[in-house]
Amino acid sequence: MHLKGIEEELHRDLSEVKSLSDLQQVKAKYLGKKGLITQAVAGIKDLPPEERREYGSRVNRLKEYAEQLINQKEEELNREDIQRQLSQEWLDLSIPLEPLQGTHHPITQTLRRIKNIFVSMGFSIMEGPEVELEEYNFDMLNIPKDHPARDMQDTFYVNKKGYLLRTHTSPVQIRTMLSYKPPIYMVAPGRVYRRDDDPTHSPMFHQVEGLVVDTEVGFGHMKYTIETFLKEFFEVDVPVRFRASYFPFTEPSAEVDIGCVICRGEGCRVCKQTGWLEVMGCGMVHPVVLENCGIDPEFYRGFAFGMGVERLAMLYFGIDNIKLFFENHMRFLRQF
Ligand code: DAH
Repeated sequence: MHLKGIEEELHRDLSEVKSLSDLQQVKAKYLGKKGLITQAVAGIKDLPPEERREYGSRVNRLKEYAEQLINQKEEELNREDIQRQLSQEWLDLSIPLEPLQGTHHPITQTLRRIKNIFVSMGFSIMEGPEVELEEYNFDMLNIPKDHPARDMQDTFYVNKKGYLLRTHTSPVQIRTMLSYKPPIYMVAPGRVYRRDDDPTHSPMFHQVEGLVVDTEVGFGHMKYTIETFLKEFFEVDVPVRFRASYFPFTEPSAEVDIGCVICRGEGCRVCKQTGWLEVMGCGMVHPVVLENCGIDPEFYRGFAFGMGVERLAMLYFGIDNIKLFFENHMRFLRQF
């Protein structure tokens, strides 16, 4: 075919191309193995030598021209394709989301409520490590070397000598007094570990420790603080009583009971027919503990308290087995 004719036909074909697959066909028709231009190139060698030069350069120019047109068309089609995608496939980021289905774990909820109540009373939140020095967990809290709590039966020791998994959050008292000068008003939430395992005890559980150190601090301030907390936490005017008790790090010490929230004091299985539930320990910080931390007991006094978070959550939500918190069955968790 005449080269001019090939060129005109190529223009016509390209003007009808609508898609990349149309373009592939056009490309094959002209530049494929048996394409019109490819054949023209192959025909050069059959021409008489005097015509080859001129015809050859025309064929080659046509070939380059055809390649250029096809590439241009391809780019054009790609651009159109992107424009089409941009205008059709878009997301409306302003559409409101479906409400989220998740909730916080009941222990997380309980910890947050406890922290919020104390923060509203002006306390700061402190933290300490779960792998703790034996010295902070026991010695500096005035717990003697032969105290049964130190026994391998109660405490998880770690391989490194002098370290253990803290058995309570009380060592955070020590850490706080070693790093801050009074006045101190702090609570320390966190995980603690004991070799215990039954329906009301778990080898890992949570405590919140409280510590106040200031100049004019007495048992009355402690009583008021704890009563206010418990009434806020249980959202009712629960009866609260302080029972004399013993802890090595406080003197005097007390255990705090609330009127049973299950039977309202009538006597039931949960309160073992007493009408009362023990919810925390407390007391005036022992002068030896203040001294251990470089605080002068002639000048400063303190009170401290410690509560079990799972116990408070069980009473608040009416749950009778601590294990339910850690098995994470969806049917249990969905209720909160
Ligand atoms: N550390 C005690 C425990 O784990 C709880 C406790 C009692 C903490 C009296 C205190 C306190 O700060 O004054 O059983």
